[in-house]
Amino acid sequence: MNRPAPLALALAVTTLAVPASAQDDLSNKATTNVVAKASSPNGRITVTVALDGEGRASYAVQRDGKPLLADSRLGFLFTDAPKIDRALTLAGQTRDKVDTTWTQPWGEWATIRDNHNELTVKLRESKSLKREIGVTFRLFDDGVGFRYTLPKQPNMTRVNIAGELTEFAFAEPGTAWWKPAYLWNREEYLYRKTPLDGVGTAQTVMTVKLASGTHVALHEAALVDYAGMNLRRSDRPNAFIADLTPGSGAPAVSRDAGFSTPWRTIAIADDAPGLYYASRIGLNLNEPNKLGDTSAWIKPGKFVGVWWNMITGHWSWARGPEHGATTANVKRYIDFAAANRIPGVLVEGWNVGWDGDWFGNGKEMQFDRPTEDFDAAEVQRYAASKGVHLIGHHETGGSASHYDGQLDRAFAYAQARGIPVVKTGYVTDAGEIERTDADGRQHREWHEGQWMVNHYARVVTTAAKYKVSIDSHEPVKDTGLRRTYPNWMAREGGRGMEYMSWESKNPPEHEANLAFTQLLGGPMDFTPGIVSLKGSKNSDIPSTLAKQLANYVVIYSPVVMVADTPEAYAQHPNTLKFIREVPTDWTDTRVLNGEVGDYVTIARKAKGSNDWFLGAVGDEEARSTSVTLDFLDAGKTYTAEIYRDGPGADYRTNARHAMAVETRPVTKGDTLTIALAPGGGQAIRFVAPAAKVRRR
Ligand code: NOJ
Ligand code: CA
Repeated sequence: MNRPAPLALALAVTTLAVPASAQDDLSNKATTNVVAKASSPNGRITVTVALDGEGRASYAVQRDGKPLLADSRLGFLFTDAPKIDRALTLAGQTRDKVDTTWTQPWGEWATIRDNHNELTVKLRESKSLKREIGVTFRLFDDGVGFRYTLPKQPNMTRVNIAGELTEFAFAEPGTAWWKPAYLWNREEYLYRKTPLDGVGTAQTVMTVKLASGTHVALHEAALVDYAGMNLRRSDRPNAFIADLTPGSGAPAVSRDAGFSTPWRTIAIADDAPGLYYASRIGLNLNEPNKLGDTSAWIKPGKFVGVWWNMITGHWSWARGPEHGATTANVKRYIDFAAANRIPGVLVEGWNVGWDGDWFGNGKEMQFDRPTEDFDAAEVQRYAASKGVHLIGHHETGGSASHYDGQLDRAFAYAQARGIPVVKTGYVTDAGEIERTDADGRQHREWHEGQWMVNHYARVVTTAAKYKVSIDSHEPVKDTGLRRTYPNWMAREGGRGMEYMSWESKNPPEHEANLAFTQLLGGPMDFTPGIVSLKGSKNSDIPSTLAKQLANYVVIYSPVVMVADTPEAYAQHPNTLKFIREVPTDWTDTRVLNGEVGDYVTIARKAKGSNDWFLGAVGDEEARSTSVTLDFLDAGKTYTAEIYRDGPGADYRTNARHAMAVETRPVTKGDTLTIALAPGGGQAIRFVAPAAKVRRR
């Protein structure tokens, strides 16, 4: 793509002609000896661990006997000790296997199977410091996770990590979908599609389609008390090095020895839909739920909010004539929520601290002090009388230490007011998080550095004490910690719907990119449902109306916004039935088709009913796919309530609102043609016969 074709061809030929290990300078000096090997339960995926003649360790991944990752380096650089790299010997290996199924309190699937074989190798330096590290691999049928363990030992008590030597050396060329790391706008970049060797430094999830067609997603799982990992190109073709987010004038990671790193994950599938399922390895690699039975207080559900009018510039977060979070405005949103059986109402700008320049400065923010035009007690009484709860909002402006100082009282305040979910925010440029230590010294941190990883964890665990759930905006990326802390329900962490209001809008392919990149990491608070298709300055939103509905199924989150204004829904009443009915918690999910960045069709089964819902979204091209309804129960006739792009619908014209609504009977095994307009989508509810008689 970025590279002239003849060169790309030459590169491809070289890569194929030379055995993978021979390109590797690991093996130039000496032969590489495999010292340990393990396979996935079905035998398709194999990991080998090798040592070269200088004692440098590497791992490699094969699938169906073909190399997927060539020998890829393992090791560490430290700020205050020699690196762990050469002179390693195998000091032992152990194995384990697990086949178990666990239950999610909420999610895309009610249960998840964890079926893996485990191999741990111990590597010990034969010279000087004689340090020992462990590397544990877990091999699933659809991917591999591995992590290091750094035990406490005489020559390693405090660990100050400057970087990892960990590599991911693809054995063949491929196409990558990635977004750049370390740029000012944090995680909010569009996905780029380039050859593997055209990637700069990428955030994870990075998704790759290899020349052979195999799909791979590189990411990490259980990012706890460690620095977030990005991927930096190495000097070898198609190879990347783990790039740890720096600390502020400090090692990337500083900890007492006796810990394991996050898991580095390699999800592997034949195609894009397969990657979606394979991403469950990330959840399997996280620790089980530490919060116990949360069913009484963690409640998935939709919410409306005093929000889009701020994003379009009609209202302000700050006090003044345009202030959005007034008692009267919020009551109108409560009325709208109650009328449509939407359980939550988000209120942004309700608290003291927004009046100055809050971007990058949250020093005035108080999360237990409402503004004088927001009568919190009255609003709470009114909401409760209508069976609605408020969703709280803590915008820190990146002043994380200032927030740390009030976590307990902020969440006690929320709990006392029946607020079950708080949306947090860290709006400041990347690398500009404000941290003030106990001694008053100020630092600037990255959102994904070790200090902030620990900050987000403090917020989530403090919130749990008060039975409050968290929806983090400007978050650290999702590495599956929802399994351990199910009150960490959603994150933004990418370009959500708000960009459709602003000048640089998301292109039509954005959601089809997200489905196979960011969303492999976990739920996203995308804030769908802008049915006006109008952004700030009355700008047109490049989407069809049907796509706004489809996003409720495609983009999973247990807490989902019905993001437009009550006035907009009143103008587009044909959208409200589906928006009311679409659930946010599922027992099953099937990815029926898809290609990264082109299109995706997902069907999900509602929790607590036999209904299925389907969402399909495309890109800028018109496209028809056909799907077989083999997920429905046999012997039942369902009513398909179809919301599809209407005649002439097109994201580029005023026909973007054209939407046809129709119903038809369907049964298991029927084939449906899903026609998508340019920039279009389609949403379907399959009403099961039993559910029809029930009052919802
Ligand atoms: C950015 C968030 O993404 C947005 O949803 C929020 O309204 C503003 N920050 C203010 O907190
Ligand atoms: Ca944002």
